[in-house]
This record gives sequence, C-alpha cells and structure tokens, in this order.
Amino acid sequence: MTALQHVKLGTYYVVHMPEPDDFAFWRERARQLVQCDVPPDRVAWVEPGGNGSLFSHGDKRLPVPDDATRMIRASKRFLSIAKNVAHHSDPERFSLLYAMLWRLQSNPRLMEDKADSQVRRLEDMDKSVRRDAHKMHAFVRFRMVGDEEGPEGNGEHYVAWFEPDHHIVRREAGFFVRRFANMHWSILTPRGCIHWDGEVVRESGPAQKSDAPQGDPAEDLWRKYYASIFNPARLKIGAMLKEMPRKYWKNMPEAALIPELVAGAQKRESEMVDAGASLFGEEFEDRPETLAAIDKAIHACRKCPIGSLENEAVMGEGPDDAALMIVGEQPGDQEDLAGKPFVGPAGQVLDAALAVAGIEREQTYVTNAVKHFKYTQRGKRRLHQSPTAKEIDVCRWWHEAERAIVKPKVVLALGASAARAMLGKTVSISKVRGEPMPLDDGSELWVTAHPSYLLRLDGDAKAEQERLFAADLAAVKERLSQLVG
Ligand code: URA
Repeated sequence: MTALQHVKLGTYYVVHMPEPDDFAFWRERARQLVQCDVPPDRVAWVEPGGNGSLFSHGDKRLPVPDDATRMIRASKRFLSIAKNVAHHSDPERFSLLYAMLWRLQSNPRLMEDKADSQVRRLEDMDKSVRRDAHKMHAFVRFRMVGDEEGPEGNGEHYVAWFEPDHHIVRREAGFFVRRFANMHWSILTPRGCIHWDGEVVRESGPAQKSDAPQGDPAEDLWRKYYASIFNPARLKIGAMLKEMPRKYWKNMPEAALIPELVAGAQKRESEMVDAGASLFGEEFEDRPETLAAIDKAIHACRKCPIGSLENEAVMGEGPDDAALMIVGEQPGDQEDLAGKPFVGPAGQVLDAALAVAGIEREQTYVTNAVKHFKYTQRGKRRLHQSPTAKEIDVCRWWHEAERAIVKPKVVLALGASAARAMLGKTVSISKVRGEPMPLDDGSELWVTAHPSYLLRLDGDAKAEQERLFAADLAAVKERLSQLVG
C-alpha cells in the first residue's frame, strides 16, 4: 500500500473477480464484506485483467466475519437485477452493486425508490443487458465452414460472429444449445467464444472478426428468402433501426438487401395493395424433411405478424415416430422462454391428465398449431392473445410438416385453435369431441378442450369440464391401444 493510501484510506480491501460475469463469486464476497461491516468506499472490485496493482491488499486478505450467520438483507428485486447487472460491461458494476447491497441493510425498500440515482442506474444497466441478450438471440447468423468429416467425424460446423455490448456470451450459451442442439457450432465474439459439439459446451478466449468466415453459398438462399418475406406494408424504418441497430447489419447476410428493399418498399406496397395481398407471406417451396430442419427454419418464419414480436418460435417435442401427436394452440409466456411446448401451467394440467389416462408424454409428440407466442405487453407482463384464423391457417405449413415426418396414428387437438389448424375450419368443441374424424393422411383426429380453459373455470363448471377432459383422454388411450397395442 502506498503511503498516500495508507494515510488517507486506512484498510482497503481488493476483490479480484475471477471472471467478468461471476455473480455467484461477487455475492459470496459481498456477503462476507457486509458481515464484517466494510463500507463500499473501503472495497475495490477488480475485473480479470484489471489494474489491481494500485492496491496492495489482495483477495486473500479479506476479513473473516465473527458472525457469518448474520442475516443479509437483499430484496428479490435487487437480486434479480443484480444477476443481470453482473454481466454489464461497466467496470463499476460490482462496486455499484456492493454500494446498493450496503444501503439495503438500513433501507430494505430502497429498490422501490425510483428517484434514487443508483437505483435508476442499476435499472438502466439491467435493461441494457437484457436487450443485448435479446439482440444476440435475434441477430446471430451461423455460416457453414466446410462439410468435410472433422477429426471426430463431426461433419458440418457452423460459425457465427457477434459483437455483444456486455459479458453475456457464456450466459446465453444455453439458449443456443437448446435452439441448435443438433448442429455443431461456434459463436465467436471479442468477449470470448462458445462452442457446441452436440454434447458439451466449451469456452475459449476472445476472437477477432477475421477468425470468422465471411459468407457461404447458403447466404444467397437466405437473402432470397428474406427478400420474399420482406413486407413493405409493415415497414417502419424508425422501429426497424431500433430493433435491428445498424451495428448488427454487417454480420447479417440479409442486411445487404435492406437499403434496396426500403427504397423499393413504397412501390411494392402499392403493388401489394393493388393485388389485394395481405400481410402474410407466401408458402415456402420446399417442405423441410427432418424435425431438425423444421426447428431451424421456424425461427426465421415471418409469414405472419406474430413472428415479428419479441419472441422465439417453439418447436414440437417428442419421438419422431410417436403414435400420438398432441397439438396445442401456441406457446405461452413460459414456453417461449423455455423453448419447449407445454411447460407452463397448462402443461401441468395436461401432464396430470395424461398420467391419469395412462398416456406417457415421453412417447407422445407434443406441438402447437402456431409456433410463436402472440401477446400484448402490459407493463412487465406479456398477456396471451388468441391467434386469428388467418394466422392459424398460415402456420399449418409447419405442423403439417411435423405430421408428415412423425406420421402419428392419432392426433389430439386441444381447443378450438388446434381443431381449426387440423380441419381448416372453425368447429365447436362440444359438437366434435369424443368421436374420431379422419384426416387426409389416414390418421384420426380427436378434439378436446384446451387445458387453459380448465384453468379459467371454477366450481361445478370446472369439475364438469375436468371430467369431460379426462374422458376424452381415456378414449384416446383406448383407441391407441386398439391401433398400436
Ligand atoms: N398452451 C398451448 O396451447 N401450448 C403450449 O405450449 C402452452 C400453452
């Protein structure tokens, strides 16, 4: 410690962060420091590679609390914001978080004080990290780098270049693993890289743009596709620039088309109006032939307006030779976040009823009529909105492609949207439930209520609908036993 620090600062603690985004480490050290009554101006939080040499006391010298069981006050809101802020690129983030944790000990409701400048700063940082993650989900574009057999016989490898504003790469690995589980890929960034070989995620240090491939033949196809779905009637340049800031354009093959498409938009719009065209895109020419290919393709689908909300397409799930295919309406809030169908409250109702009927969900292919979550934003909540008939009809392309691969013997449609998706016309559940209807591929369609409907009821009406739902599932089980034993 220099004389100046010694005189002016007294004991000064330095915490060397092992990683720039290690929230768990920060939390452990911060608790220890609060328990030892070390005020924020006596602690320096040093990032990896940061200049810790100004301070002579290292992490090892942190004080040991007399009473490590002393309760630390940290509101849920603080913790949920802190988890995101730990990924921010601001070098002061850990100090700021510690200052706030310190203040929360005497004022546990501090996070509710919107006029407090530190609260506002944390909230802005939280938002900026979430936005960065959203951009990464939306704008990472993989390019194929050779399809020769690799050393492990991996075959195709895809590489993407992305420039995040914050330390989000490790944290977002799970998202890309779920989305692109069947591909082998690397995401290279100046803040570190992640790699997936179909089994494990590996990390490596920062990369440069020149390490990433600059284009592959598939991009021409992608550009063509983008040009065909680009809808001039929906063009809002301000909103587009906000959602797709120019800094991401250089890594997106389709972006090369944007100036040209924008310039031609007015002309195309009037042509579309003249032709009486709607907001919906045209059919693709070639139907994907594997579930993995559908999974990949649905994320790019913008054939109806739902796909342009801030959401992710959710692929069906289950064996590709399942005898039973269950079709819901659309993913809900939790399904959108998890990337899996029926994992929220409606999924729990469904799971319980399947178990009672003796139908194994693991042996069933579960999907939705509409692949994206349609919602309206109310404050922080995303409220479900029913898809329109047109949106359901446009999305038939996808579940028909799934059905052509899985070839189920029985399809069970949950609710009116799913029934419409299967039949191409609106039907009343009470009129069609309980009896099979033939589908053109030789399978049988059974229709029942949607589990969310049961959740909205109470009292006798709920008991009656639960009874009918259970009876429908029992009939489906019986039929499956006849068809497949
Ligand atoms: N409701 C649906 O219809 N599908 C889901 O995946 C979840 C809720």
